[in-house]
Amino acid sequence: MNKTIYFIANWKMNGNHNSIKEIELVFRFLKKSAINKFIKIIFCPPATLINFFRIKIRNRLINFGAQDISKINVDNGPFTGQLSANILKNSGANYVIIGHSEKRLIDEDFKTIKEKINVALKNKLKVIFCIGEDLSQKKRGLSLKILKKQILSSLEKKINFNNLIIAYEPVWSIGTGIVPSNNYLNKVYVDLKNFLKKKYNVNSPIMLYGGSVTKDNVATLGDISLISGFLIGGASLKATSFIKIIKNYFK
Ligand code: PGA
Repeated sequence: MNKTIYFIANWKMNGNHNSIKEIELVFRFLKKSAINKFIKIIFCPPATLINFFRIKIRNRLINFGAQDISKINVDNGPFTGQLSANILKNSGANYVIIGHSEKRLIDEDFKTIKEKINVALKNKLKVIFCIGEDLSQKKRGLSLKILKKQILSSLEKKINFNNLIIAYEPVWSIGTGIVPSNNYLNKVYVDLKNFLKKKYNVNSPIMLYGGSVTKDNVATLGDISLISGFLIGGASLKATSFIKIIKNYFK
C-alpha cells in the first residue's frame, strides 16, 4: 500500500471542551498502531474549539480543520463575524471544509465557494471541497452533470491539486444511513477522474467519499480503489466508532 488514506471527522455543530477526551482516545490508538503510517486524521470541530484541542494535542498524527472560512482575503479587519484564513491558521487549522451541502443550503453559492477556495489556497490552508447531487437530481439521472458543474464553477483552471481534496458526498446519503452501491460509486469516481484529467490535467486527484460512513460499510467502500478516504459526520463524534471505522478499513 502506498497511498495515504484520509479519515476526516466533520463534527458539524457538535462538541464542547469535554470532547477533547474523544480526540485523546483516537490519539492514543494512533500512537500504538502501525496503521498510522498510512493514514491522515483530520478533526474538524466547531472553530471555537480548534485552538483548545490543538494546545492539548500537539502531534502531527492529529490534524485540525475548520468547517468554514471568510471569503474576504485579508488577515484582519473590520469584518464582523468573519474568520480569515490567517485567524484559522493561528488557531491550529491546516485544512478547511468548503462547499458542504449543508452550508450550500444556508448561504454558499457557486461564486462564494470559488472565492473561499481561492482565499484558502492563497493562504496555504488545504481545502476539503465537497460536491454532491441531491435525490431529485439523482432520480433524473443528472448526478454527474451536477458534480461537474459544481467543480467547474468552483475551481480555477490552474488550481493546485496538491492542496485540494475532493469529497464526493451524495446529499441523499448524508445522515440518512443510505450508502450508494459500489457499482454506482465506481462509475462516479472513474468519470470524475477522467473529467479532472481532461479539464485540469491532474493525474491522481485525492477523492474521498462521505455520507453515512460507519464501521459496517467502510470495508466495502474501501474496495473502490479510487476512494482515498472518508469524510465522516455522525460516526466520527465518538472515538470508539471512529477508531472502529479506521480499523475495519484495514481489516
Ligand atoms: P454523515 O455526514 O457521516 O453523518 O452522513 C457526513 C458529512 O456530512 O460530511
